[in-house]
Amino acid sequence: MAPRLAFTRRDAILLLLGAAFTRLWFIFAGDDDRDRPIYIDAVHTDTITITITEATATTLTVSPAPTQADPFPATSLVAHAPGWTLFEDVYMSNGTLFIVSDNPSEFPEIRMMISTGLIALNEPENIAAREPTSHEMAIISTQEARSRWGANGISATAILPVEGNTFLVNEPAQFLRHYFHFVAELFFGAQVFWHGAFFRNRDPSSSVPPIHRLIFTHSNSHGWHDEPGLNTFFLQAAFPSIHVEVHEAWDDRIALTAKGSRVWRFPRLLLSDRSAAHRGQICGTQTQRIASEAWKYMQAKHQLMGIRGTEWWEPVRTAVLRLAKTPKVSSGDVGSQAALGGISAMDAPKKVVISYISRQTTSRRRLTDESHAGLVAALTQLVQSKGDSWELNVLETDKMTKEEQLQVAGRTDILLGVHGNGLTHLVMMPPTPISTVIEIFYPGGYAHDYEWTATALRKSHFAIWNDSVQTAQQLPTYPEGFHGSQIPVDGPTVARLIDHHLAGRL
Ligand SMILES: *[C@@H]1O[C@H](CO)[C@@H](O)[C@H](O)[C@H]1NC(C)=O
Ligand SMILES: *[C@@H]1O[C@H](CO)[C@@H](O)[C@H](O)[C@H]1NC(C)=O
Repeated sequence: MAPRLAFTRRDAILLLLGAAFTRLWFIFAGDDDRDRPIYIDAVHTDTITITITEATATTLTVSPAPTQADPFPATSLVAHAPGWTLFEDVYMSNGTLFIVSDNPSEFPEIRMMISTGLIALNEPENIAAREPTSHEMAIISTQEARSRWGANGISATAILPVEGNTFLVNEPAQFLRHYFHFVAELFFGAQVFWHGAFFRNRDPSSSVPPIHRLIFTHSNSHGWHDEPGLNTFFLQAAFPSIHVEVHEAWDDRIALTAKGSRVWRFPRLLLSDRSAAHRGQICGTQTQRIASEAWKYMQAKHQLMGIRGTEWWEPVRTAVLRLAKTPKVSSGDVGSQAALGGISAMDAPKKVVISYISRQTTSRRRLTDESHAGLVAALTQLVQSKGDSWELNVLETDKMTKEEQLQVAGRTDILLGVHGNGLTHLVMMPPTPISTVIEIFYPGGYAHDYEWTATALRKSHFAIWNDSVQTAQQLPTYPEGFHGSQIPVDGPTVARLIDHHLAGRL
């Protein structure tokens, strides 16, 4: 076994300058502190391996094993909700996430953090197959970490640090290729959890660290790209510097540690797992939305700041609208103020913008032709009765660019349409007191997707069953006709709802 020597960095550099070795390897892990000791392992005569570890001692020491300077800091749990877990110092070796702790009871049940990441089907065998095993995650003692990864003076090079902040997405492509699930579930949940965990004062710029890296453990690049390209647009707008790794890169990380004697250390990692979120009470029985577990946790802890508690989403919303070149956003409106530290006023907008997302050019979930015509007529009449102060947009999103769609969404107060992906644009609506989503269902049908998302952003939500307005939350039901092309809606009912809802709010 090679002797372990500890030097300060200055000593090491002097040593290296005078060194007569033919080959040198450097592995720098955290070179922010110049006076931290560096451990040198003399592996064989012509090789020196230098690892700068997380040591705090500054004196020259010669010791067989680092004691204070622990190369395997124990894992800490920063925040946890079912399916959402923020760790510091968590490890991965050969595909297993390792929590290093001498107090395993401080961690939640493993099945509430992770699953096998298989495609989810509502069948008993599949549900069982998604339960995690010790291959997905294990909790080991600090002693075991040392003996597995050789910190007892064998080789500190076993540690492969992954600097910065990582968002690890442990779900298959099943839902990722869908704008609603990608943006309004996955990133909605990640943003509220991340922002909530760090947003403890009124200065978000200093307290909310960036996410540097996004890893899809079970999806290739194709798997998270939706057809219209909104997912990429969203990601590049909201997280322009993020580095994306797909499962091939994750598999390479696994392969590099396949012998089990090496380990990746993630100093900060947010783990998201769809199946684990569905094991939670809120997602599993009430909303079926993974983001709802993350949102509820932070809301209950009063970690959602800003007027109406929607400030966590504003940096994302404004960044996306800025890339879509929405003129309003660059000129100091509600959104850009929020990004700088707070919404100062929640004035109702001077103009009311109604946007109806038509699905009449698609084949599924479509209004009858008469209903569509009647709805447009009733809305037109309503808007005309208000003079110049109201505006109606009838949008056929398949004929619009992404930018055009986002630009309209970014200035819409009342968004309405048949239940469908187009309603995801609600996440881009400005957070004003009149912000409202009206969702048309086949009478008797209901789904929580947009209702939950609108509510989390403090928008009003109404469900329409032809000529009746459902204000109370319903159970999800998909009757015959739900996805069909004969959905009825009574236009005057919708127009009256908008008029009455806004009366007194303007
Ligand atoms: C690494 O994981 C694979 C399963 O993916 C397993 O077969 C193998 O035994 C593991 N190697 C070690 C050293 O644990
Ligand atoms: C929808 O509501 C209108 C207005 O009340 C009614 O005339 C029509 O019959 C209803 N359509 C269906 C399919 O229920």
